[in-house]
Amino acid sequence: MSGRVIVFGSINLDLVTRVKTLPLPGETVIGSDYQLIPGGKGANQALAAAQSLTDPKRVLMTGCVGEDDFASRALSNLSKIGLDLKRTRPSATSTGIAMIGVDENGENSIVVCPGANGLTSAEQLRDIGLSARDVLLTQQEVPLDEVFAAHAIARQSGAIIVHNAAPAASLPTKAIGNMDYLIVNETEAEAICREHDLKARINETGSQELAFVIAERFGVSVILTLGENGAVSVLVGNRLQHEAIPANVVDTTGAGDVFCGTFAACLADGISSEQAVEKAMAAASRACEVFGAQSES
Ligand code: RIB
Repeated sequence: MSGRVIVFGSINLDLVTRVKTLPLPGETVIGSDYQLIPGGKGANQALAAAQSLTDPKRVLMTGCVGEDDFASRALSNLSKIGLDLKRTRPSATSTGIAMIGVDENGENSIVVCPGANGLTSAEQLRDIGLSARDVLLTQQEVPLDEVFAAHAIARQSGAIIVHNAAPAASLPTKAIGNMDYLIVNETEAEAICREHDLKARINETGSQELAFVIAERFGVSVILTLGENGAVSVLVGNRLQHEAIPANVVDTTGAGDVFCGTFAACLADGISSEQAVEKAMAAASRACEVFGAQSES
């Protein structure tokens, strides 16, 4: 039985430049010419989900853009692939942007100016006919109260809730308890452990065990992505190690988003969570070989 992927999240236009090394605090570095590339964690994840489904219309992007020239550029890849943009709305402000530097190793440094993303509301999900076959996919670049309200709406319909805790922010116990799958990188996992006083456990068990500690404490399935070291997952209590898939890294920007979007799409297709992690890892690895957060559809 296949469902839809409902993405509730940010839409940005990324201003990207290559630099030799990323600037340290207080340092100025000179970059290459900049490029304007569609981005935003929500939009990146929606595109990845649409790219892995046979029918891109099964992806609904819920977000906000401004009433400016950047809006259509930010949405260009989502429009081109033909996913459902009926719940993405314009508002009388500026489209979100992200200023991104990418160094010679493909690592990045990002500053996000949220703009219209700050107006994204769970109300946009009302009456979309969510069902238990659907997957709601969220991140943390739109107001968190609205993200939690979106989770509550999904919970009522029995839809699967996949939350990517990026970028790191405070996450109350109740909010984590409402999720089915929590996807984090090491920094985000450590932030959750610090906030919920799980630090002693981290020191005892080492960073790869963060997924287990969080899953045990909150009763949620956790996927901890570890970049070139693969991933660790605790899926309904089942602990797994996932080997990294080698890549010729050009730019890691958005690779985590590709992971999340592909994972959600697999769940919507009825694929097991274990297999979904493997497919998501393969897609994220390919994404590292392309410059910019969104690869061509
Ligand atoms: O995860 C990468 C994304 O983070 C970029 O596309 C940028 O817009 C920021 O939201």
